[in-house]
Amino acid sequence: MSGVKIAPSLLAADFSRLAEDIARIEDAADWLHLDVMDGHFVPNISFGIPVIESIREQSRLFFDCHVMATNPDYFLDELSRAGVDLVTMHIEAVPDPEAPAKRSRDAGLGFGLVLNPFTPFAGVAPFTELCDVVVVMSVEPGHGGQEFIDAVLPKIEEAREWVEDKGLATDIQVDGGITPETAPRAVDAGATVLVAGTSVFRAEDPADSIAELRRAIESR
Ligand code: DX5
Ligand code: ZN
Repeated sequence: MSGVKIAPSLLAADFSRLAEDIARIEDAADWLHLDVMDGHFVPNISFGIPVIESIREQSRLFFDCHVMATNPDYFLDELSRAGVDLVTMHIEAVPDPEAPAKRSRDAGLGFGLVLNPFTPFAGVAPFTELCDVVVVMSVEPGHGGQEFIDAVLPKIEEAREWVEDKGLATDIQVDGGITPETAPRAVDAGATVLVAGTSVFRAEDPADSIAELRRAIESR
């Protein structure tokens, strides 16, 4: 086993059948990735706290909430009450993340920082000790179904080397455009968590597509 975690992104699910779609990946996935958007930090709106509260009753998966918001702090207590386990926020939105990290921990949440595709790793390097996970976006945030940006591969390597040099257990998550073709490349570069929306939920059999991602990683 590679130990790489697969986190299907609910953004690509059928929003009129969330419980059914979650049931299809429940036993195959490691985490469930929840993309919350405020229509300001990114030019799109997805779903929010009431939806997360409802799906919490449908799943035992680890809830990984990617907050694409200008003021991510604003949602922390409610996200925690709704049953989120880990919150990740963008370094572009919280350039000084020490207080947000503390507020997340105080709310009982794991904490991580996200880098947009063209934000250098140096932006989060001083803060990795605050993080359970560093997320490298491999597409521009805001929409599912985009193509993996190969130019982020060296940044994934840089993140991996940095946390290893520091002896940290920080996960390196890669988010966007993950398919059986791109997953092995992300893992070779150092990813330990892969977020996959379209390739999982838009497949005929989502559990099978997760197995296919795992096979692609194993046989790389
Ligand atoms: C983009 C989101 C991603 C997205 C991934 O704003 O952060 O999590 O849902 O979806 P795919 O796998 O379709 O690129
Ligand atoms: Zn995401």
